[in-house]
Amino acid sequence: MKLSADQKKQAHDMMELWEDDVLERYPENPNKPKEEFRNYDNPARDTVKEFYRMNHTHQTYDFVLEKEKEFLSLNRREMSLWDAVEYLNTLVDDSDPDIDLDQTQHLLQTSEAIRADGQPDWFVLTGFLHDLGKVLCLFGEPQWAVVGDTFPVGCQFSDKIVYPDFFKANPDYTNERYNTKLGVYQENCGLRNVHMSWGHDEYLYHIMKDHLPEEGLYMIRYHSFYAQHREHAYDHLMDKHDHAMFKWVDKFNPYDLYTKAPVKPNVKELRPYYEDLAAKYLPDTLRF
Ligand SMILES: [Fe+2]
Ligand SMILES: [Fe+2]
Repeated sequence: MKLSADQKKQAHDMMELWEDDVLERYPENPNKPKEEFRNYDNPARDTVKEFYRMNHTHQTYDFVLEKEKEFLSLNRREMSLWDAVEYLNTLVDDSDPDIDLDQTQHLLQTSEAIRADGQPDWFVLTGFLHDLGKVLCLFGEPQWAVVGDTFPVGCQFSDKIVYPDFFKANPDYTNERYNTKLGVYQENCGLRNVHMSWGHDEYLYHIMKDHLPEEGLYMIRYHSFYAQHREHAYDHLMDKHDHAMFKWVDKFNPYDLYTKAPVKPNVKELRPYYEDLAAKYLPDTLRF
């Protein structure tokens, strides 16, 4: 399925809206009075709400297993890291060249902030590639199955997840196999045994899993799992190892959320550095 320029623009706009919404929920300085944050008009708010209504209604246990089967054979495209970055950027290149912050810039602002703090190079690389799973959009996947907060499926949906009421329309909500606290899982079984709602996090994790240190893989796989890394709503599924690794997810989150700056990174100048990094950790091409 090929997306029209209009569909691409829509997908890109939705990603921006979701990220703005997360930023409103988790402001960098929670003591700052609310009205100082970007106030967007109601149509945008309604779009986000509708987005979550779709997401919470359709992310069922069966849906997730189906998507895992459909996508995790990774037989759609083979791309180098930079090709993948440019491919993701066609979301805006083909639609609105004047858009203020395209995907490449979000990736670079995240990774450059990590680099400026003197973090290890694999952490910088992780920041640079953390959202590449969004290419799912370009494969024709609906936005609610690409971006948005992620959460475990196969067990009770936490009321700490944004817009929890929308889960009432999810068939798993009334299915007694899935609607108890543990559902199909065992207490503290470890997140590696838990199916997360389908989206760009889980998808990219599988693409990268043989190439990056485990800390980076946790950042990729759980960066949209706000119900855990911000709300600690799923401690009962995590084991000790998850808790140790989530320190890195926590470390990553501010770089993802709070590094949007009006000064655009110079893509051309930075490219050689990131190509060297990619050569150090990744194979020449990645399978998507
Ligand atoms: Fe993301
Ligand atoms: Fe991001």
